Amino acid sequence: MPQFEKSTVHMKDPERVEQITCGLIKGGASKLQIITDFDMTLSKFQVNGKRCPTCHNIIDYSQLVTDECRQKLVQLKNQYYPIEIDPQLSMEDKFPFMVEWYFKSHSLLVEQRIQKDKLPQAVRDSDAALRDGYEQFFSRLHQHNVPVFIFSAGLGDVLEEILRQAGVYLPNVKVLSNFMDFDDNVGVADVKSQLVFVQRGDPRFKGDLIHVYNKHDGALRNSESFQQLKENVLLMGDSLGDLNMADGVANVDHILKIGFLNDKVEERLDKYLEHYDIVLVRDETLEVPNSILQKVL
Ligand code: TMP
Ligand code: MG
Repeated sequence: MPQFEKSTVHMKDPERVEQITCGLIKGGASKLQIITDFDMTLSKFQVNGKRCPTCHNIIDYSQLVTDECRQKLVQLKNQYYPIEIDPQLSMEDKFPFMVEWYFKSHSLLVEQRIQKDKLPQAVRDSDAALRDGYEQFFSRLHQHNVPVFIFSAGLGDVLEEILRQAGVYLPNVKVLSNFMDFDDNVGVADVKSQLVFVQRGDPRFKGDLIHVYNKHDGALRNSESFQQLKENVLLMGDSLGDLNMADGVANVDHILKIGFLNDKVEERLDKYLEHYDIVLVRDETLEVPNSILQKVL
């Protein structure tokens, strides 16, 4: 496949990749499911040197929060994002810091009394972008009725709106993420659906918190979503935490793991090569996954 000749493509064991790919090809559409992360995996990390927003950042930089709140959210990002990507720390080391980040960040969002009907405009006003080739990616999977599970530690409501605006929130796509809980019964007539996040453990979000390094638990808790009797998996992520997204799938025959390495590349490449079958370094496209899907479907 010519797409594999690109300088962005790295593999520790190309033969193994070929073997797994052959397994996926043999199984075809009827055995395949996609399990993918969202932020910085389906969405772009940067465009022309400018960082693209995560789902959270879309809210952080929108009119939906006050300047004071924005400052605090940015401070949190500056404090915790370096921990998220620190090559020296293990996932276990990072875990409590991630819980702290989500707790503080979601608490601030709850205070802002965000209205659900303002989210579409915030997404439209943002620099959110899906990776090049996303139309082909989603349309081919839809055409062949392949289930796509998007498993995100971002904000589900924002994520869904991005997909909707891009025209790719198709019936085969399912989202597992942190969904805000909007109270439709807020008394004031012109204040519809205020955010009241209900979440166990504190700030109020629906269901259990998904953060970057607890996707294993999320996958097991939600294994019924993965019980599609599809033995072959194409997994895509940008964090080592994303490697656990398929832990809820019983009886995996073949799993091909594609990792996007966007940041701290030199420091993290070896670790990524150890765990991901294909590592795409500073590659803002879905060309490689698309070329594989073209063979399989
Ligand atoms: P993902 O699982 O779809 O990649 O989404 C999680 C990303 O969201 C992760 O990289 C951390 C990021 N994040 C923010 O950008 N701002 C925040 O306030 C929080 C809590 C997380
Ligand atoms: Mg991500």
